[in-house]
Amino acid sequence: MSRATLDKNPRDVASMFDAVARRYDITNTVLSLGQDRAWRRATRSALGIGTGDLVLDLAAGTAVSTVELARSGAWCVAADFSVGMLRAGAARPVPKVAADATKLPFGDAVFDAVTISFGLRNVVDHPAGLREMARVTRPGGRLVVCEFSTPVVPVFSTVYKEYLMQALPRVARAVSSNPDAYVYLAESIRAWPDQAALAGQIRDAGWSDVRWRNLTGGIVAMHYAVKA
Ligand SMILES: C[S@@+](CC[C@H](N)C(=O)[O-])C[C@H]1O[C@@H](n2cnc3c(N)ncnc32)[C@H](O)[C@@H]1O
Repeated sequence: MSRATLDKNPRDVASMFDAVARRYDITNTVLSLGQDRAWRRATRSALGIGTGDLVLDLAAGTAVSTVELARSGAWCVAADFSVGMLRAGAARPVPKVAADATKLPFGDAVFDAVTISFGLRNVVDHPAGLREMARVTRPGGRLVVCEFSTPVVPVFSTVYKEYLMQALPRVARAVSSNPDAYVYLAESIRAWPDQAALAGQIRDAGWSDVRWRNLTGGIVAMHYAVKA
């Protein structure tokens, strides 16, 4: 099986990403029309991290998101359960850990900040993932979730839905090492909670001060929260 379905069976998700890994970074940049770099920079800046901070980048994949975080001077670790993705990013100079977001191999309250970009949507029980992230974050520590969301401008929203369902799988066929995964990508984005609903889930998982900022008209939303 080369793609997961919306039940997000962890084995299917991990092997789908293993199969995507080889051309993941380039496919991302092509499909997002280069916007992925700006989204990663915005995540780093929202976390407010710097030298002396200990940061967990969860569902880090090839660690492309982790190296952007490390530019802050913080000590950043990449964690992901797809060994294929971690291996594809082997040349990136950040520590990497094979780990499941719902059962993290870290003690309580060890991180100053935790972040997950384009990963939470793929976690089989994402509320459990949010609770685990709260467990490993110290009181006063920060969370940023960067994830596809619901466009806020109506005309734009219609064009975007067409892009997701029609153009994206076609472009993926030309660029990706596992084009079927991008059918799952489109489906999982459409099924994902909107900005306000995700904020509620983050609050329910034990985070406070939850707020969000839309990027690229709400194609992506960055949710920010603080560990009480
Ligand atoms: C779209 S990639 C995002 C990679 C990277 N954060 C980025 O911004 O490009 C999603 C990643 O989530 C990982 N993932 C999904 N469910 C996971 C889980 N339960 N535990 C750990 N990683 C998971 C996948 O293996 C995949 O590498």
